[in-house]
Formats: sequence, structure tokens, C-alpha cells
Amino acid sequence: MRSDIEQVLLTEEQIAARVRELGKEISRDYAGKDLVLVGILRGAVVFLADLYRQISIPAGMDFVAISSYGKEALSSGVVRILKDLDEVVESRHVLLVEDIVDSGLTLQYLMDNLRSRNVASLRVCTLLDKPSRRQVPVELDYVGFQVPDEFLVGYGLDYSQRYRNLPYIAVLKRDIYGGHS
Ligand code: IMP
Ligand code: MG
Repeated sequence: MRSDIEQVLLTEEQIAARVRELGKEISRDYAGKDLVLVGILRGAVVFLADLYRQISIPAGMDFVAISSYGKEALSSGVVRILKDLDEVVESRHVLLVEDIVDSGLTLQYLMDNLRSRNVASLRVCTLLDKPSRRQVPVELDYVGFQVPDEFLVGYGLDYSQRYRNLPYIAVLKRDIYGGHS
């Protein structure tokens, strides 16, 4: 085990198995529909890449980038679009793909924004859900795993732009990030 990792919460195999299940479910639910997965940069990239390949129906992919917490790992609650969609999503079925839902503020903002573009439907697929931290209610349609209130890294999740390339999801040692999440 690396010295900066407290504990592995989800192994590569556990994640892969769950992503396969989610892919099957989504393929069933959206059969015959014009589906586009919208990943939230950068954290959702790793999950989206794996999920996309487990979807057996035609589907597009696109990305949005929003301002992140920065180094302090704290939610400012202020969200700003840094990169908008390239595709026109009007009348299409949009599935927002997120790495982790924490306060819910990011999703609430993005969902309001996307709804105003007259999409055919809008749903959310998140790999991780940290329900204990929610500040605003958001409906999550597909959830990979519920996780405890710990600061997590790996499989796309970062601390200060590091650890995204870990193949598993782990709890970061408190002395690395300063103890607040
Ligand atoms: P929310 O707006 O508070 O729901 O923020 C969700 C975003 O915060 C996610 O897309 C992540 O980028 C980030 N985030 C929340 N919890 C963690 C964590 O435990 N580790 C790394 N990033 C996190
Ligand atoms: Mg994110």
C-alpha cells in the first residue's frame, strides 16, 4: 500500500463489475432513444470512458467543464461553466455522468442549465454518492456506490489534480489533505 493512501474503498474489480451492470441497465432503459452521455470534466472522464464501452446501444458523448473546488477541497457552492457542450442537445435524451455527488450544488446548477435547452429527458448517472454531505436535493437515477463521508481519490477523483489515475478508489490519508472534506 502507498504511504499516502489510508484504505482502498473500492477495488478495480468491484468498480468494473458495477460499471457493467450500469451499462446494461442504461442500454435497456434507453433502447430506441437518441442518447447522449454528458461527462463533467475532469473527474468523470475515467468512469465515462468505461461506462460508454458497456453501453450496447448507439449513444453520443460530450463534456462540460465547470469551476472546481480548487486546492482546498471545499465546496464554495459557486459554479461556473468553463467549457460548454459541443453538441446541440435539444430533443435528445441527456444522461449526465458524474464521478461523485457531494453537496449536490454542481448537479443542481447543471441540471437547471441543461433543462432550459429543451432536452427530451435529463437523468443522472453517478459512480459515487456521498449522501451525508447533501445541501440541496438532487434526484440520482443511476448510482454505482454509496460512500461514507471521507475524502476519496482515484478512478478520476483527484486531490489537487493528483491521483486521478489510480485504478481503484481510496481514502486519502488525512495528513495529505488537511482533514477537511
Ligand atoms: P458537489 O457540487 O459538492 O456535489 O461536488 C461534486 C464534485 O466535487 C465532484 O464532481 C468532485 O469533483 C468533487 N468531490 C466531491 N467529493 C470528493 C472527494 O471525496 N474526492 C474528490 N473530489 C470530490
Ligand atoms: Mg467533478
